[in-house]
Amino acid sequence: MGESARRPHASSRLVYKPTLSSPANHPELMQRLRFFLAAFFLLALGDALSPSSVAGAHLRPDYYADVCPDLESISVAHSPVAAPATLRLFFHDCAVRGCDASIMLINPDGDDEWRSLDGMTLKPEGFHTVMNAKAAVDSDPRCRNVVSCADILALAARDSVFLSGGPDYEVELGRYDGRVSTGRSVVIPHGSFNLDQLNSFFSGLNLSQSDMIALSAGAHTIGAASCGFFGYRMSTDAAMDPAFAEELRGSCPAMDAGGFAFLDAATPLRFDNEYYRNLRAGRGLLASDQALYADARSRADVDRYAADEEAFFGDFAAAMTRLGRVGVRTAEDNGEIRRDCRFPN
Ligand code: HEM
Repeated sequence: MGESARRPHASSRLVYKPTLSSPANHPELMQRLRFFLAAFFLLALGDALSPSSVAGAHLRPDYYADVCPDLESISVAHSPVAAPATLRLFFHDCAVRGCDASIMLINPDGDDEWRSLDGMTLKPEGFHTVMNAKAAVDSDPRCRNVVSCADILALAARDSVFLSGGPDYEVELGRYDGRVSTGRSVVIPHGSFNLDQLNSFFSGLNLSQSDMIALSAGAHTIGAASCGFFGYRMSTDAAMDPAFAEELRGSCPAMDAGGFAFLDAATPLRFDNEYYRNLRAGRGLLASDQALYADARSRADVDRYAADEEAFFGDFAAAMTRLGRVGVRTAEDNGEIRRDCRFPN
């Protein structure tokens, strides 16, 4: 593997380790923790016996150290242009049937995740990134058909964030690929959701409100949305800054004309905390993001991330690690290492 294909930053930058940020840094979380502690212990015994409680327990950053020792040196994402699509692909994969690369599967009958109504808005660049990354991994004979597509997607998502200027963090590995993908299993949060709807969706993934705030408004610091997802807000939403609404009318003269706007109008291609500042100014593109500032229960997190990019980067890295544990499959659980990311073996 040539030097140019190596991750240039691996040793030169702060790398967030996949240990979870301390709750002691969040007073309100500490209060809630104490409140639920008793209930937690009562449930813990029963939970310990359920398979979901061990989902992701075997994941670790050096999972492939023996069989594919140079995995972290192989470049799995090269283009900041493809970064938003790749990051979103990871979310859509993990949110549906867990992080098992089921989003990549092509079913001959056309009934699969990526051809569902929500899946069809995923941009091809994300899929291309994973296919190219798999080819790059397989070009090392030791690694051929040893690393799962789900892990390759998790690595590509992390590298996409970093390429865009965001945090570097260790990716836990050891996911197996799923064999099943159907359109009807796709349930994804919508841009019109309010805080309760967002929380209810993310709690279904075992993710907290804080995880959701770091992940969703965090990821929306890069990439774009089609006019259909926000155009209705330009004339009806009092939470939107009128000058911003006027700017957006230029991007979306007609809803069905294929127009789009950058999610973060301030720094659209840079992964930073600017989108949280936009929210404070009524310049959030999606109603689901603006709701995080409008609702008093989530505003403090938005304020904190808007003021402190380092805190945002740390929490984003931790939340991506928790997202990466959702529904993780094992060999015993009907998982496999796919030879072609598009088809079961
Ligand atoms: C809170 C729930 C979320 C909602 C309601 C939501 C909704 C949306 C919508 C409507 C778009 C525009 C899609 C299009 O125009 O085709 C979008 C784009 C995007 N989303 Fe989310 N999203 C959420 C959470 C997330 C999460 C958790 C991530 C990643 C960790 C993410 C990453 C992205 C990215 C990077 C884009 C830009 C994609 C591109 O330009 O190709 N989103 N999201």
